[in-house]
Amino acid sequence: MQARGCTRCSELAATRRTVVFGAGNADADLMFVGEAPGASEDEQGLPFVGRAGKLLDQLLQEIGLERTDVFIANTLKCRPPGNRDPQPVEIDNCQEYLLRQVELIEPSVICTLGNFSTKLLREDPTGITRLHGRPEVRVIGERAVWLYPLYHPAAALYTPRMLQTLREDFARLPELLALGPPEQPGDEFEPLPEAAAANAGGDAGEIPEPAEGELATVERSGSSPQPGEEAAGEDQLGLF
Ligand code: URA
Repeated sequence: MQARGCTRCSELAATRRTVVFGAGNADADLMFVGEAPGASEDEQGLPFVGRAGKLLDQLLQEIGLERTDVFIANTLKCRPPGNRDPQPVEIDNCQEYLLRQVELIEPSVICTLGNFSTKLLREDPTGITRLHGRPEVRVIGERAVWLYPLYHPAAALYTPRMLQTLREDFARLPELLALGPPEQPGDEFEPLPEAAAANAGGDAGEIPEPAEGELATVERSGSSPQPGEEAAGEDQLGLF
């Protein structure tokens, strides 16, 4: 698979300067997936180097992380002309590259930034306004990860309330990372014979209840707004 000379989307291939594949730590536990490169990213060949990228750097710094600790990719690897929204066919053409990145990096946590990556990786049209800040286990390709949808930093740049929410959601990332990767498909629990014998008649294999206030780990497929959540406006700018 060679992305650098990709011509699957003829318009993007004709108008881009660079294929912005992604950047960061190839061994990262934490991966971010944005929407698509903008003008600065197209010029420099790196993701999130414009204003939204500066905000992303700041949010990472606030939780004690740097760009070199994480891997950053996008739903589309090429800049849509005039920064228009990615088209469904373009998302479809490009998703193989993203799935390969997840396979190679093997993150524990994937933060989807905004609507496009959230809808793609959840395979569901529910918008970011309803989903942000709620981690759930999702299998991406062959890998189970904590999928953690967040508002897109570009949207938060202009909306102070959204920036506050993004900050609060970011603040829960260290706790989520500390959980490590979720159980992988095919990793069924099989007690060792000694452990099974020692626990015979006891409470072997019981999973401890999460403590009050611990991150919810339940996969939520419903789309009803939660108490206190706003239900409208989620498609504005295509970012939130
Ligand atoms: N917005 C994105 O979604 N990705 C980038 O790389 C830059 C801005």
